[in-house]
Amino acid sequence: MNKLGRTLVPDYLKDLKVYQAGKPIDEVVREKGLTRISKLASNENPLGPSPFAIKEMTGGLWDLHRYPDMHAYQLKKSLCELYNLKPENIILGNGSEGIMAYIVRAFLQPGDEVLTSDNTFIGFYILARSVGAKLCTVPLTEDYRFDVKKLAESITDKTKAIYIANPNNPTGTYITKDEFDHLMKFVPDHVIVLLDEAYFEFANHHEDYPDSMDYRYDNVITLRTFSKAYGLSGIRVGYGFAHEELISNLSKVKLPFEPNLIGQLGANGALYDKPHLERTLRNNTKRYNETVNFLLEKNFNPIKSITNFITFKTGSAEASDWMFDKLLDQGVIIRALKANEMPDFVRVSIGTKEEMQHYFEAMENILPEYDKLFGRAE
Ligand SMILES: Cc1ncc(COP(=O)(O)O)c(C=O)c1O
Repeated sequence: MNKLGRTLVPDYLKDLKVYQAGKPIDEVVREKGLTRISKLASNENPLGPSPFAIKEMTGGLWDLHRYPDMHAYQLKKSLCELYNLKPENIILGNGSEGIMAYIVRAFLQPGDEVLTSDNTFIGFYILARSVGAKLCTVPLTEDYRFDVKKLAESITDKTKAIYIANPNNPTGTYITKDEFDHLMKFVPDHVIVLLDEAYFEFANHHEDYPDSMDYRYDNVITLRTFSKAYGLSGIRVGYGFAHEELISNLSKVKLPFEPNLIGQLGANGALYDKPHLERTLRNNTKRYNETVNFLLEKNFNPIKSITNFITFKTGSAEASDWMFDKLLDQGVIIRALKANEMPDFVRVSIGTKEEMQHYFEAMENILPEYDKLFGRAE
């Protein structure tokens, strides 16, 4: 780091690592010269955006010389109708990660303690560290779930915020209604709870999954996104629901014109396209079951997930990297989980029928050699 960097950059930023996204399709095309690519690395919607959302966004192209509505009137109105809320309870941003950025900027100061789990969404760790907050983490349970009991025991006078991804990425597991109730008994009113429900639409039909909108806690912020089930990762729109006092403070640090004009239109269109969402969920259930069966047949042991991705143990970082590389050579992009501190696991997003077929074929091709090199994890 040069002198300018040394003086300008606060200590807590110096060692911060930049977020690593799933490998983009174009990069694989460039590097490998392949044409058949299946990206199963970022938990996106393999069916694409809703056709209705596309129509709305296309219509908006002629207005791109104008700033967007900074109050996002129409999108907030639609969310209010759907969730029976007032606009004062809603914040919109550039993806749910954009809203997490507002939360850390508005509420956290250097030295504040943020409590969460190991092996959860890395984007949140990075954001909390970027404002100098101290991350306090507890390990996952043996069945790879947030350990709610340990979280409750770990709350201290210095705890300012608690982050829970429910369901969790990269494990796909969730905390139950009973566990959420247990935790909330121990959370003081002045501690903010971020409930990250990026995979809500996939999880919601599970009976013991706690839909945070069924609760009324003034210190809980629900975060959801159009990036996953709604198939709009590319336009970056997320939303948060909370008490109006929290929302009004978040609005102070929010950039006025997020989400952008096309984002607002696309998200609003997607909300009204129920058939597309249903198609998405149907495809996911079917392909999820097929993929779990495939992995079990091959003697892997996938973690039970209620999302659109599956994580399983390879047994070592070497085996994970080898599998990632060999699948990539065949045009299948998965995710090795080194950055999540689960280097002995890999994560595969659920794709279309054709994409999963591609994945199964590619796995069949590499497994004889994989078995010789690594065998199976305990
Ligand atoms: C748990 C979790 N939260 C948040 C996000 C970020 O979503 P968005 O695209 O809305 O910023 C992701 C994306 O992978 C995620 O897995």
